Amino acid sequence: MTSIIIAIDGYSSTGKGTFAVEIARRLGILYLDSGALYRTVTLYALKNGHIEWNGEIHDRRLQEDILLGRVEISVMPRRDGTMRVFLSDEDVSARIRELEVARNVSAIATLPFVRNFVDEQLHRLGAKGCVMDGRDIGTAVFPNADLKIFMTADAEIRAQRRVKQMEEAGQHPRFEDILKNVQERDYIDSHRAMNPLRKADDAIVLDNSHMTVEEQMVWLDGILRERFNISLL
Ligand code: DC
Repeated sequence: MTSIIIAIDGYSSTGKGTFAVEIARRLGILYLDSGALYRTVTLYALKNGHIEWNGEIHDRRLQEDILLGRVEISVMPRRDGTMRVFLSDEDVSARIRELEVARNVSAIATLPFVRNFVDEQLHRLGAKGCVMDGRDIGTAVFPNADLKIFMTADAEIRAQRRVKQMEEAGQHPRFEDILKNVQERDYIDSHRAMNPLRKADDAIVLDNSHMTVEEQMVWLDGILRERFNISLL
């Protein structure tokens, strides 16, 4: 069953990407990172001068470019299940992780015409089957997904995970600052006017505060066997 659509939503730093990529790799289906598409639109806006140094967005100009088809996004899966993303012909997979994009993406992701555009792209790319992660996949993008999972974990544990990742990258953040940032992002994501983060009524909650990736796979395997008669172990 390769046409299955699995929607994974949840708070930031809950390990949605890691979980989704592992599923994609094991089931041999396409992984689509919806956040990466918001980041790519943000990079386009930065490259084309639609975002001022103070964060002000020229939304009319961005909207016009989107309407005229100038924002060309495509993706390509890697063998390990992760996703490469292209803006026109440029591989922007690394650039969209840079700080300047991270700083502006939340504001770009609140613009309704951007959300509509990204939704269209996600439908175009994922309609034939995928595992997709984000904030509104099970509620807005694919409300009829075959399986919906809502991921959560204690804020302190998520902050600890982020600190560890940053330390591995040679940074030395303060735990209190990271915890505050995690809590702020939770608030912004769940209070946005259009398609805020919330659990779909038919989503299954996965609290992975005290679970390894392998334990999460075993948990999901039970559900996939029961519902679809497929296994990822
Ligand atoms: O998951 P991420 O950090 O790459 O997401 C980047 C931004 O995009 C973040 O501000 C949340 C937003 N986003 C969203 O609004 N809806 C989605 N489906 C995915 C991401």
